[in-house]
Amino acid sequence: MNQNTLFTSILSFTLISAFLPTILAQATDKKLIYYHDRANDTHNKHVSLLPLVQNTSDISVTNILIATLDLNSTGLFLRSGAKELDIDSPAFDNLWTDVAEVQKHGIKVSGMMLGAFRALSGNDTWFETNYAILHDGIKKHKLDGLDIDVETADAITLDEVIRLIDRLRKDFGPTFLITMSPVAEALSGGRNLSGFNYKTLEARRGDSIAWYNAQFYNSFGLVSSTDDYDAIVDYGFKPKKVVMGMTTDPANGDDFVPLDKTKETLQKLVAKYPGFKGVAGWVYFDARPGRQEAPWKWAQIMANAIGLSRAPKNSREKQRGLHFEA
Ligand SMILES: *[C@@H]1O[C@H](CO)[C@@H](O)[C@H](O)[C@H]1NC(C)=O
Ligand SMILES: *[C@@H]1O[C@H](CO)[C@@H](O)[C@H](O)[C@H]1NC(C)=O
Ligand SMILES: *[C@@H]1O[C@H](CO)[C@@H](O)[C@H](O)[C@H]1NC(C)=O
Ligand SMILES: *[C@@H]1O[C@H](CO)[C@@H](O)[C@H](O)[C@H]1NC(C)=O
Ligand SMILES: *[C@@H]1O[C@H](CO)[C@@H](O)[C@H](O)[C@H]1NC(C)=O
Repeated sequence: MNQNTLFTSILSFTLISAFLPTILAQATDKKLIYYHDRANDTHNKHVSLLPLVQNTSDISVTNILIATLDLNSTGLFLRSGAKELDIDSPAFDNLWTDVAEVQKHGIKVSGMMLGAFRALSGNDTWFETNYAILHDGIKKHKLDGLDIDVETADAITLDEVIRLIDRLRKDFGPTFLITMSPVAEALSGGRNLSGFNYKTLEARRGDSIAWYNAQFYNSFGLVSSTDDYDAIVDYGFKPKKVVMGMTTDPANGDDFVPLDKTKETLQKLVAKYPGFKGVAGWVYFDARPGRQEAPWKWAQIMANAIGLSRAPKNSREKQRGLHFEA
């Protein structure tokens, strides 16, 4: 090896070493997310999460958000379809067995809390009493995170949301996933359902919030073009902090956009924003095109659209672990 070749080798090695982590991190940090809002389907048959980790290597789901948690001073509840039951009800046994199994395969599972958050607003004594119930539920069911979706203005203030975020961070540590699900417009200076400004929140606690699952539906955003996502980026949010959330079937919310069109938008976003965070589907159990018979097919299409592929089984955990970013 002459000196030039040696120099070139050292140089390329240095360059590759310098850039590889960035390239890998970008390639592996995208999120493919399902909200999972019912233990049983419309025929009262258990909705299994296991197809997401069995058989196919191209599903690549990274996160599941168990919806929807509801907290009051008497307990922590899980709304599942039309039912609302105590989170520890045996009616959810199959759900929690599935959750433990998909977690073993590297999928992170969060609870998704939606509503007014009255139990977590107000004075410290009130907060402490109710937070303790939430804390125990998260711990008992080994949840990896909490997705916070405040949908009633004037029920909880920005400072009170921050009190909750800080407490979760303190109690569950740096890898606990704190995410939020605002309506898309709330991230571009438009209408909001939460009653506080998300840009202010991002400025004050962005370090604690892993990303936002922005709702591009119900008139608050559309996935038929990149316009509404562009508006969010123009308003100051980084693409690595914003997941594009969408309905998976017209029955799950207004503004469902056919998958071919959605795919086009996502491919444009991926090309335009290298840090583009990914996709969330509301909800799993009846997602098109497979619907109740094969709700995982939506994830295959989305993984393909955003260029997310699951690494070979034996190296998957290692890769996820290496580049995991909270
Ligand atoms: C996985 O295999 C099981 C058993 O063979 C089957 O019932 C299920 O439908 C398969 N799931 C997928 C996603 O192919
Ligand atoms: C708490 O929520 C449960 C489940 O929705 C409900 O049955 C109960 O009445 C609520 N209790 C209070 C005090 O709001
Ligand atoms: C789901 O169905 C099983 C079997 O019918 C039943 O035992 C369980 O209570 C149901 N769970 C819910 C949340 O409806
Ligand atoms: C704290 O808030 C709760 C719920 O609003 C209320 O019932 C209680 O009286 C308040 N306690 C104090 C000390 O203000
Ligand atoms: C949020 O929406 C409410 C109406 O629901 C509005 O009064 C308020 O000004 C909005 N807040 C921000 C920060 O945009």
